[in-house]
Amino acid sequence: MNILLLGSGGREHALAWALAQSPSLTKLYAAPGNPGIAEEAECVALDVTDHGAVIAFCARHAVDLVVIGPEAPLVDGLSDSLRAAGVPVFGPSQAAAQLEGSKGFTKDLCARAGIPTAGYVRTSSLDEARAALARFSPPYVLKADGLAAGKGVVIAASLAEAEETLAEMFGGGFGEAGAQVVIEEFLEGEEVSFFALTDGTTIVPFGSAQDHKRVGDGDTGPNTGGMGAYSPARVLTPELEARVMAAIIEPTVRIMRAEGTPYQGVLFAGLMLTADGPKLIEYNARFGDPECQVLMMRLKSDLVALMLACATGTLEGTQVALSDKTALTVVMAAKGYPGTPEKGGAIDLSGVEPGAAKVFHAGTAMKDGALVAAGGRVLAVTATGASVTEAQARAYAAVDKIAFPSGFCRRDIGWREVARERG
Ligand code: AMP
Ligand code: GLY
Repeated sequence: MNILLLGSGGREHALAWALAQSPSLTKLYAAPGNPGIAEEAECVALDVTDHGAVIAFCARHAVDLVVIGPEAPLVDGLSDSLRAAGVPVFGPSQAAAQLEGSKGFTKDLCARAGIPTAGYVRTSSLDEARAALARFSPPYVLKADGLAAGKGVVIAASLAEAEETLAEMFGGGFGEAGAQVVIEEFLEGEEVSFFALTDGTTIVPFGSAQDHKRVGDGDTGPNTGGMGAYSPARVLTPELEARVMAAIIEPTVRIMRAEGTPYQGVLFAGLMLTADGPKLIEYNARFGDPECQVLMMRLKSDLVALMLACATGTLEGTQVALSDKTALTVVMAAKGYPGTPEKGGAIDLSGVEPGAAKVFHAGTAMKDGALVAAGGRVLAVTATGASVTEAQARAYAAVDKIAFPSGFCRRDIGWREVARERG
């Protein structure tokens, strides 16, 4: 099979690496890819907003499956264009990708299907939103409705801060994403990510992970796309996972199908484990980054077969086999991230012994034959172990062999679980 993978981050490098292990892969193309992905695929330049160009590429290269890594092309309807042209695609339709693309859409769907989530109000003007604040107590959870590159959620400690944030959101500070704002009840508990594959009808669990969103050790500082992750997240016990499947994932897939917008692809549920049980914080229509890196390290099944089954409605009878080992990934970012990252810093990976860890590339580039930093999150250094403690030790041992003077990382990825393992 010939496959075209779209994207350029650490998530896509992990996907490329897993796809390349499949016996049914003939040729992997990636657009635009990155220097790590180039070890597994032929990287090509393609404008993914030009649907006609992507379709023409697929015809010219006899592409049997397109795998869409990031959310933007999904929300932009690329999978609809490809399906209409007869190209199988892993990734939901534009209508189904609203689960990620519109917070209000997902909250209303949860209300219709009785899915446990935070209480909420959808507002479409500053006056309406300010009035609605009276129905909540601090801290106030304010969400720009649309895609905002992970920056659309503000937790405001006081009423004054909430009013200021609302003024900014409705004032255009969040672009089009802020034309509507969802105000939510604040949920308390531990967060966990859960993934499931679906072809629109059949659902197959794809395991759990925990992400570290804050930039600094001890979960301090500004939010990022994720500074590290590990899988599995043992706080999501088999009993809790069964509840998540029955109360959240299954009703979602069922109502999406019933309403004529079946969801195909990976459903990524951000969950809060509250005293009243698991509640949905948000859905994403793609794998997480860096959660994908740890899931792919544990995957024993053929990813090509799984993705094709999602794309062609043949998932029934399929299972995702994952290693019992823990995988842990440490993100190395360029200084300045999540603000303006330093570009062009030299990276030397030659000290990392093959087999000790897998270094996924996120924001890297080749310059004059040498590897340099070219983004905020630059590398995802990933290792496995019998416990989180062991996987963490191995990942940091590899981090310490990487020469990347203009980079930094958190030193405590996995801390919650390491503390629990210590007892
Ligand atoms: P989201 O982009 O919806 O995942 O939100 C980003 C982060 O904000 C989440 O990972 C949570 O840490 C936090 N968050 C979002 N919604 C809530 C909520 N209702 N209660 C508490 N924390 C929340
Ligand atoms: N790491 C969080 C995300 O991919 O949304």
